[in-house]
Amino acid sequence: MFRLVTLMILGTAAAIAGCDRDPMSETGFRLPDGDPVAGRKAFIYMQCNQCHTVAGEDLPEALLAGPPYVELGGPVSRVKTYGQLVTAIVNPSHELAPGYAEELVSEDGESKMYNYNRFMTVQELTDVVRFLQPHYDVVVPNYTYRVYQ
Ligand code: HEC
Repeated sequence: MFRLVTLMILGTAAAIAGCDRDPMSETGFRLPDGDPVAGRKAFIYMQCNQCHTVAGEDLPEALLAGPPYVELGGPVSRVKTYGQLVTAIVNPSHELAPGYAEELVSEDGESKMYNYNRFMTVQELTDVVRFLQPHYDVVVPNYTYRVYQ
């Protein structure tokens, strides 16, 4: 028994230490904070509103607006982190937005979102993410239990 526990502890320690040795690990990754006002401007300038509305924002209509429409912000059951938003923009197919039918927002597993990586500056990316993040509201689901008597 003692051996088994020791083995388990050593195994876990090795797994934790192993993660950090992964040269592709995101440990230590942190972009600078952006500017939300500049982010709102960049969002419109980059025509993100072609496919997106932002909860609580009255954005002008985009020139080539068309489906798929995906709302950004609004109620979520878990915090939408800065990191998740950066990933959603620079690597949209990594994890598709929850709550939409896959065939609506993707084709052959690839997000229908444009790839901005060759055009968007890091400054624009951080500003847009800083603009979007506070629009997500964490809402605890309201479970109502029926009481049997
Ligand atoms: C041609 C349509 C289109 C345009 C333009 C577009 N997107 Fe998207 N976007 C999508 C679709 C479809 C999804 C859902 C699938 C996915 O998660 O990639 C999405 C998802 C997202 C998500 C993840 C949402 C979530 O709740 O998980 C973010 C954040 C996002 N887009 C930001 C942007 C920003 C910022 C721009 C402008 C730089 C932009 N999008 C431009 C189509 C578009």
